[in-house]
Amino acid sequence: MASRLPGAVTTQPENDRAPNRDGTVRDGGERENESPPEQELAARVRGLSRAFGERRVLDGLDLDVAPGEFIALIGRSGSGKSTLLRALAGLDRSVTGELTVNGTVAVAFQEPRLVPWKRVLANVCLGLRVADARAAAGAALAEVGLTERADAWPLTLSGGEAQRASLARALVREPRLLLLDEPFSALDALTTITMHRLVVRLWAHHEPAVLLVTHDVDEALTLADRVLVLAGGRIGFSCRIEAPRPRDRNQPELTALRTRLLAELGVDTEGTK
Ligand SMILES: Nc1ncnc2c1ncn2[C@@H]1O[C@H](COP(=O)(O)OP(=O)(O)OP(=O)(O)O)[C@@H](O)[C@H]1O
Ligand SMILES: [Mg+2]
Repeated sequence: MASRLPGAVTTQPENDRAPNRDGTVRDGGERENESPPEQELAARVRGLSRAFGERRVLDGLDLDVAPGEFIALIGRSGSGKSTLLRALAGLDRSVTGELTVNGTVAVAFQEPRLVPWKRVLANVCLGLRVADARAAAGAALAEVGLTERADAWPLTLSGGEAQRASLARALVREPRLLLLDEPFSALDALTTITMHRLVVRLWAHHEPAVLLVTHDVDEALTLADRVLVLAGGRIGFSCRIEAPRPRDRNQPELTALRTRLLAELGVDTEGTK
């Protein structure tokens, strides 16, 4: 099912610059002339804008999400990452521009947002319209290693368990586009590594396109096929990562990219800012 949001803005994609020799694209990640037809993409965004009062948070943003692609989206706090995700999830009807999502979308947020008065299995089933919702939810919980906590109340779960329940709830919908808004940022380092492995395993198995918002450049480098930097209301920088997974974040190409991404975020790695 394709959902389309016709908007008032008809900005032409202007992000058609050739990539640099290192495969990065400055000031615009999308190159219209290379794009496949809209219906073949998991999502296409053209000229997307969103203002809150006088403030334009998204300002003519273009983005193509290929089927099965794993994208990490980084950007300074307040740059509009969650605003973009909400638009893609169909949760914000006040955006303008063109936004097409082909197929089911599911979202997992920073806080797991489980309903406290429903047990874990019931949370995963919530709103699910399939023949045997409980069996589907049980299978999703098994995939995230949470079978034993199916009858638990959400408030008795650890942070990592709650996030896994949230992932199961997203996955059981078999999304073509999975939106993850900083899902690991509240977890400790060890749990985060476990969650990274889980997400990569689930992604490889179910093959949704993933758009992961993160503050963590290393997380982006570890997980993504493509890293986008949101700045000035648009995709200001885009780079592809070809390195096979699992990745060693200290390998030279990733180290160089980390420095570059931090610079794009305005972080001085010499420590003078
Ligand atoms: N409903 C709203 N009303 C007014 N302003 C809003 C609203 N939602 C977001 N904003 C503003 O839009 C800007 C972008 O917000 P958004 O949540 O998308 O940022 P973000 O990039 O996700 O930041 P963070 O990394 O801190 O999560 C912020 O300045 C925020 O205050
Ligand atoms: Mg946010």
